[in-house]
Parts: sequence; structure tokens; C-alpha cells
Amino acid sequence: YVLYPAQDTLQGQHWVITAGPTREQIDPVRFLSNNSSGKMGFALAKAAARLGAKVTLVSGPVSLEAPPAVNLIKVKSAQDMLDSVMEHISDARVFIGCAAVADYRPAEFIAQKIKKNTQELHVDFVKNPDILQTVAELKQRPFCVGFAAETQKLEHYAKDKLKRKNLDMICANNVANGKIGFDSDENAVTVFFKNDRTEVLQQCCKHKIASQLVYLIQKNLG
Ligand code: CTP
Ligand code: CA
Repeated sequence: YVLYPAQDTLQGQHWVITAGPTREQIDPVRFLSNNSSGKMGFALAKAAARLGAKVTLVSGPVSLEAPPAVNLIKVKSAQDMLDSVMEHISDARVFIGCAAVADYRPAEFIAQKIKKNTQELHVDFVKNPDILQTVAELKQRPFCVGFAAETQKLEHYAKDKLKRKNLDMICANNVANGKIGFDSDENAVTVFFKNDRTEVLQQCCKHKIASQLVYLIQKNLG
């Protein structure tokens, strides 16, 4: 790879990136969420901004600082994340869905704290909107990149998502052994493209993986 492209390579491009988990409130003190530190999405935002892109980073609750020159928008729920993405997407050249979006939310928000006075508790959940798929369905759509964290059949599930969501590129990582991926500083990623090409990025820190992914995206923008 050419790992050090010119600093103005992405000048004039708007990139929208989602990061972190979403939080689906059940009652005032409890929520459903996903495992995600936000590190990968923040590293991607930093890498794209360093190359001159205007970056909008829409993130669920994480404990990370906004990277330099990145417009960080903090959201909680999947619906908030979708609303914010749709507000900023119209002139985007690239959309990267890096967030671990909760697939379901409670069917209703219970206004008072649920008391521990029953043996069983049943909560109904309804499906959340799919942010990446919504963006990929836009008439004037950006180059769409997804992530797939899988514990088994990595290639099969990743390629299925690439096709089903009509993406340009998907970054698949295996989170089965718990050492890389979630919450970790390291990642190892296999990238599948729409045109059946594959690239393997060896395990290294998320910042290096992010630089390589930004380079791969830029190369494939056409
Ligand atoms: N994604 C999204 N909105 C959702 C769910 C997922 O934008 N409501 C995005 C993620 O950010 C990721 C990609 O879709 O880029 C794949 O997410 P993943 O959870 O692996 O796929 P799902 O389609 O939700 O399928 P499943 O959880 O059943 O594997
Ligand atoms: Ca999911």
C-alpha cells in the first residue's frame, strides 16, 4: 500500500461516519445497548480528516474525545442516529456505518423506574431502522461502507450483508476470541468489495487499520 497519501487527497469531500453503540432506554434508569468502544469509528474519522475531508462523526455514548477538525454529533438511540445521519447526508461522498446499532428497542418507554416486584419481567422489543440500508437506498447515494462483526461464518455473513444492503464495501472482523475487535485497541479486518475483490488487513492497531481502510475507500471511489 501507499500508506501516506497527500494531505489534501480528500479535500472537498464530505464523509459521514457512525460510531459507538446506541442506547435504547427501557425506563429512566435502564437501557439496552451493544458492545462498542467507538475506537474504530473515531480512528476512521481522524484518518479521513487528516487527508482533508470534511468529516461528520455521529456517535452513540462513548468515552472518547472528538478527533481534530471533526464535527462530532453525540446521539443516544438508533432513531436519533438515523435522524442525525439523514440531516447531514445530502452532500456526502462517503458513508461509513461503523456503529454497533441496537437492532431492537423497547416497544414502549416505561416512564417510572420498573420495580422488582414480580418473578419474571417481559419487555417487548420492536425492530430499529437500519441506518446503513436507509442511506444505501437513497437516490443520490454516497459510497457506502459497512462493518460486519461476526462470531462465525465471517465471509458468508459479510458477503450476505454486502449484497442485501447493496453496499460498495464491507469490513468484516471476527469477534469470536474476544482479543480483537470490541473494546480492543487492535483489529484485523477482511474487506469484501461489490465487484468480488477481497483485501486482507493483518492485525494491527485500529489507527493503522483505519488509515488503510480510508486509503482503500479513496482508491475505489472512482
Ligand atoms: N447497521 C445500521 N443500522 C442498524 C443495524 C446495522 O446502520 N439498525 C449497520 C452497522 O453499522 C454495520 C452494518 O449495518 O455497518 C452491519 O451491522 P450488523 O449488526 O453486522 O448487521 P445486521 O444487518 O444488523 O444483521 P445481524 O445483527 O443480524 O447480524
Ligand atoms: Ca445487528
